[in-house]
Order: sequence, then structure tokens, then C-alpha cells
Amino acid sequence: MFLLCPLEQLVEGKSRGFQRNGIAIVAVRKNQQVYAYVNRCPHRGIPLEWQPDDFLDYSAEFIQCATHGALFSISSGECIAGPCVGQGLEPLQVSIDAQQQVWVNELDD
Ligand code: FES
Repeated sequence: MFLLCPLEQLVEGKSRGFQRNGIAIVAVRKNQQVYAYVNRCPHRGIPLEWQPDDFLDYSAEFIQCATHGALFSISSGECIAGPCVGQGLEPLQVSIDAQQQVWVNELDD
């Protein structure tokens, strides 16, 4: 498990990119939950963002890959449109401690 950031650095409805523990990560805060995934599109295995910290589609309802436009559910990481439908982003386990610090963990740890 490793520290992502203080919760206050994640803004409701917005995405943010991180490099932690050798992993590129996208985190999104939505409906007071924090979701985190490995920043790698399952289509070509490349980073997702349009520009730094900019991972969401225009409606801010989905994570969108900047290269071919695949749309991913923010809450599940599942690809719901685009060239990798049926695949998904690799989820990271998120926990928030009593000091409001956000921690993440790889699921296969
Ligand atoms: S690389 Fe992401 S949709 Fe093609």
C-alpha cells in the first residue's frame, strides 16, 4: 500500500494523474468516492490523458482515452464504448484513513 495524496487534493468531479511506486495512476473523485486505476489503455497499452490531469470526457461522466476515444466507467473501469469494449482499466484498491489521506494498493499484492 502506498500514499496517493491528501483527499483535499482530489476535487469532486475531476481527475488527476500521479506517478507513485513506479506506477502511472489516474484517480477520480466522484459522488464523494475515490476511484483509482493504472493509467494504461487496454487497447494499446498507452497512457490515457489528453493533457496532464485531464482524463475525463466532455461530460465528465467517463474516463476517456485521448488516442482513440474509448470510454470507461469511472466507478468500474469497464470500457463501454470504443475499440476495447469488454476490457477495462486495471483497478487499484483505494482506502482513506482517519487523517483524510488517500492510500492505494495493487490488487495482486
Ligand atoms: S489506445 Fe486507447 S482507445 Fe486506442
